[in-house]
Amino acid sequence: MQDHRLRHFLTLEDEDALRPLFAEADGVRRRRKGDGVWIRGLLEISNRCARHCAYCGLRADNRRVHRYAMTDADILRSVEEIHRFGHQTVVLQAGEHRHLLRGRIGELIAAIKIRYPSMAVTLSLGEQPEAVLSYWRRMGADRYLLKFETSDAELYGRIHPPKGGGALSRIPMLRTLRALGYEVGSGIMVGIPGQTLDSIARDLELFRSLRLDMVAVGPYIPHGDTPLGVQFREGPTVPHQAPNTPRFALKVIALARIVCPDANIPATSALSAVDTEGYQRALEAGANVIMHNLTPVCFKKNYSVYRAASRKQESHVQWDRIERAVTAAKRVIR
Ligand code: 5AD
Repeated sequence: MQDHRLRHFLTLEDEDALRPLFAEADGVRRRRKGDGVWIRGLLEISNRCARHCAYCGLRADNRRVHRYAMTDADILRSVEEIHRFGHQTVVLQAGEHRHLLRGRIGELIAAIKIRYPSMAVTLSLGEQPEAVLSYWRRMGADRYLLKFETSDAELYGRIHPPKGGGALSRIPMLRTLRALGYEVGSGIMVGIPGQTLDSIARDLELFRSLRLDMVAVGPYIPHGDTPLGVQFREGPTVPHQAPNTPRFALKVIALARIVCPDANIPATSALSAVDTEGYQRALEAGANVIMHNLTPVCFKKNYSVYRAASRKQESHVQWDRIERAVTAAKRVIR
């Protein structure tokens, strides 16, 4: 899609005028990816975090979160459940914290691969040194997810106090991951205070140039216990502020499908947290993947990156929702 058309659709709000965009995205999805919806089993293995991301409820100095870390036995029990559901991928996600010892994660990856040789292991463990990423890859990890959140260096710097790496340290890491042989997923939040429509157009261009295997787009959800959540309440600070509405997120999902026709695109949990029809709508706007959260409720209720009713739901309740959405979208679970 040409640059000016992309920018045109980003500003467009008229539902009739948007219909061709969604139809095009759905057509690209069908031709390139088929009707299957791929399910990823998600485990939020720890909510400890040493970082201070301004939007995230798990930031280190939020004292209102009860911190947890699943043990190896907890994790392997949940992986077994993922296997019983028939899911072919486990995603291990956590905050950035030194207890995620390189060796411990490496052993876990190996243990999963020995038990379930055909299961893909995806890591979503934040920014890590190349040596650690390389070791995890050698232990059997297949994929890595690291959202760059925004390609606007100034905005990125404002919401990610550096740990020494400096601004936009995540983009070089995405290239490192690729060089190490990982399949690489990334993505953005839309509607971050200070994020403009133009900056979203540049995010989409970056998706394309990074040749990502997976592209996730979710709405920014203000969290009251974070600096950005407080700022959000004061209203927009820039002209052409990107909205954090479900409708806008769907539009960016559709554009991502057109810009990255072969990528896997999830119907994100953040979208479904703010729109009860979010899964179905995303599947009809270009998405072909859904994450099924199998973290036991006693842990997941505390994984409060943002607030969501689903944190208190048992995994089979989410599974019912997923099945209903896939059926309503006339698609099939893979
Ligand atoms: N709203 C939406 N998404 C969020 N994330 C973290 N905080 C929020 C929020 N307030 C997402 C980010 C991050 C992932 C772990 O969760 O995209 O990469």
